[in-house]
Amino acid sequence: MHDALVTLRDAATPPETFRRIAVRISLLLTAEATRDLPTAALRVVTPLGPAAGRQIGANVVVVPVLRAGLGMLDAVLELLPNARVGHIGLQRDEMTAVASRYYAKLPPDLRTSYVLMIDPMLATGGSAVAALDMLRAAGAAQVRMICIVAAPEGIALVERHHPDVHIYTPVIDQGLNAQKFIVPGLGDFGDRLYGTA
Ligand code: PRP
Ligand code: URA
Repeated sequence: MHDALVTLRDAATPPETFRRIAVRISLLLTAEATRDLPTAALRVVTPLGPAAGRQIGANVVVVPVLRAGLGMLDAVLELLPNARVGHIGLQRDEMTAVASRYYAKLPPDLRTSYVLMIDPMLATGGSAVAALDMLRAAGAAQVRMICIVAAPEGIALVERHHPDVHIYTPVIDQGLNAQKFIVPGLGDFGDRLYGTA
């Protein structure tokens, strides 16, 4: 996990490598964040006879927060191929760092699903709280969030507004700079993912 994180942090890492490593770290985080999902028993037949096994026994909905969250989506679907996908589009204002919504499309039945919100950067927490508010308003009850770098300010804001949401993150950085970027962080995740800096 941490060798992947240091590669993401490195300003010299090009978008192609950044995307690949973002998938790698997201796989590890998803495994951790879904460890306690309910499973159901099943039996299969191997070439040598019957074998008992287990598979995910819950409805899972994964919700990437656009755009940066898309860099984590393939990894989640690799581990949870039957998950349904909702999308939430949020954009932080470059001057104020306040997030505004530009898109939302969520599947029905959030009420009975385990919802996995994915957004790699938890900075002020404004985007996360806005996205979680939308999920709650749509009926989501069981929500967990995966990020790749978190700031203490963002964690505190999410805990204040959504105390029942578990946050899975490999690291909590020092804090935010004057532009509300995470320090040391890794820069603008979406720009580094897509080469739009
Ligand atoms: C980034 C990131 C989070 C948000 C975190 O998105 O992906 O959604 O900033 O910051 P916050 O905790 O202060 O709200 P951004 O708005 O830059 O959009 P992008 O993913 O399209 O680049
Ligand atoms: N969004 C990012 O992509 N990076 C930060 O450090 C803060 C918000």
